[in-house]
Amino acid sequence: MGKAYVYTAFGGPEVETFIDRPAPEPGAGELLVAVRAAGVNPVDWKLRTGFRRPGAPPAQLPVAFGSEVAGIVERVGPGVEGFAPGDAVFGSSLTGGYVEHTLLPVTVAARKPAALSFTDAAALPVAAATAYDGVRQLDLPAGAVLLITGAGGGVGVAAIQIARVRGLRVVGVASEGKKDFVESLGAIHVPSGPDLAERVRAAAPDGIDAVYDLVGGDALEAAAGLLEDRSKLITAADRATVARLGGAGVERARTAAVLDEVAALVVDGRLTPHVTRTFPLEQAGPALRAVEEGHARGKVVIEVGA
Ligand SMILES: NC(=O)c1ccc[n+]([C@@H]2O[C@H](COP(=O)([O-])OP(=O)(O)OC[C@H]3O[C@@H](n4cnc5c(N)ncnc54)[C@H](OP(=O)(O)O)[C@@H]3O)[C@@H](O)[C@H]2O)c1
Repeated sequence: MGKAYVYTAFGGPEVETFIDRPAPEPGAGELLVAVRAAGVNPVDWKLRTGFRRPGAPPAQLPVAFGSEVAGIVERVGPGVEGFAPGDAVFGSSLTGGYVEHTLLPVTVAARKPAALSFTDAAALPVAAATAYDGVRQLDLPAGAVLLITGAGGGVGVAAIQIARVRGLRVVGVASEGKKDFVESLGAIHVPSGPDLAERVRAAAPDGIDAVYDLVGGDALEAAAGLLEDRSKLITAADRATVARLGGAGVERARTAAVLDEVAALVVDGRLTPHVTRTFPLEQAGPALRAVEEGHARGKVVIEVGA
């Protein structure tokens, strides 16, 4: 049996609780992993409220929170090649992240480089990989100017760094309190809030070439207004608004190859996940609150068995 932090119904934090559950059985192409660290993401609380990803099957309650982990392979399912018990891995989990045991499909699992901590590795499959996918989707030439909203959050800090690796100039929109943080990553900081367009024009007088939105709503609308070529407008946060504005949602690759590429950037020192807060599994609720309040700085990670 192992501990799992779950939601038992759709709703607010009151539907969250711990349960004990048997370790899941690895099916064909799956790894049973003893979780050492799990990333916390906004989608975790959104799913609890009843949000469903397009095409996703109905949730079978109770559902364990979390979808990105790093840990140690305990068993491999039928047909698995290239992984063995004892391997340190990270990836996108099928059966939760705020848990002691979970399943990773090998298609979205990668070996954890020894130089990468479990805590940093757990921050990569959702946030850093989404940043990577979005910057690649925009396919901008070196020197182009990319505006990132929500630049100081989990995806944003990775997006700034990955864009800088590609030689882009970055304007990062974040609250005033994150100015130094965003600038330390190599972006020009622009404070968020009303009249955003004016401040961006002042910070980038020659204009911007693309937008990677991580906030949605008014911030996305304001950013879109600065961009003539809406093929260079993408969001990870608000597909409905971006479709109306002529842009697109980020296309997630969700492959082991992307995990390897993102991990290599960390090992090379070109990408720092910036895990700014860690919580033990017993504090999964406060960890989720730290993201749900909407103003996380970098990544929040739950450490399991710490
Ligand atoms: N499609 C996918 O596969 C995918 C994957 C990952 C994430 N996402 C989505 O992408 C979004 C960002 O994810 P994340 O992990 O980076 O979230 P996060 O860590 O919570 O960061 C979001 C940032 O948005 C800023 N923010 C919040 N409210 C704002 C407002 N009203 N105006 C301006 N800025 C505001 C906050 O910064 P300040 O404190 O500076 O305000 C915060 O740092 C979320 O909607 C998430 O669900 C989608």
